[in-house]
Amino acid sequence: MNVIYTVNAMQAQAREWARQGKTIALVPTMGGLHAGHGALIRRAGETADVVVVSVFVNPTQFGPGEDYERYPRDLESDCTQCAQAGADLVFAPTATDMYPAQPGVFVSEEETANTFEGASRPGHFKGVLTVVAKLFWAVQPQVAVFGRKDAQQLWLIQRMVRELNIPVQIVDVPTVREADGLALSSRNAYLSPAQRAQATCLYRALQAARQQFDAGERDAQALHATMQETIRTAPDADIDYLAIVDAERFTPVTTLSQPALALLAVRIGTTRLIDNMELAGTAKTT
Ligand code: PAF
Repeated sequence: MNVIYTVNAMQAQAREWARQGKTIALVPTMGGLHAGHGALIRRAGETADVVVVSVFVNPTQFGPGEDYERYPRDLESDCTQCAQAGADLVFAPTATDMYPAQPGVFVSEEETANTFEGASRPGHFKGVLTVVAKLFWAVQPQVAVFGRKDAQQLWLIQRMVRELNIPVQIVDVPTVREADGLALSSRNAYLSPAQRAQATCLYRALQAARQQFDAGERDAQALHATMQETIRTAPDADIDYLAIVDAERFTPVTTLSQPALALLAVRIGTTRLIDNMELAGTAKTT
């Protein structure tokens, strides 16, 4: 697998591809690649001539006391998975190449970025939007592919691209799940076997809400209560937030009359997991 380690070299490669008339799809990741990333890479391959996977554990999106230091880092294994999924190049810059010693310029969204994930992780989305914008400048893609598991991140990136007129098409891909419904995440590796068994409570809660919705329930509080009850069956689960939001505006709803998303963030022991499910029309994979 070809790997580029600097922004300058990446930009030179992007210029060369442009000269050859090739289109570029970017899959931004923080490494720790799993089958969910494989699905993003394969989808990227359907959209452009070349696929670049960025592997960069972005320090600015981690808060104090979060898992920046212990986040899984294994470039060799990531490269193997990229090759298997059909990527053409891995872009793996260092933090010192991506950021100056005292960064003073950021991209931030001032409303939704402070709710849900943003309320629990202050500054998180400022770090995400800034690094995604920087990755776009480095890789110069026409298309960028993101997973629906990080629903709020996806929504904010779509808003950034729209409002800053960034000429990148955002493609979203359904969440990949284990057989028992647990959404694939690099952080699942932190779970002990007993915690892993309990972690299915996130999917079970979303499924329960989805079933109630399909049976005609439109009161957000009722769906909320169902999710809460399901999560409480797992002794080590601690709810950070549960919410039903309007899918277009990403704001809480009381009655579901438009497509909505059920969102949750739950700690299983010290591991914080997130997941979501679409509540609209007939059941579909999110
Ligand atoms: O979803 C992620 O892995 C990260 O938030 C992203 C988009 C790669 C930015 O660091």
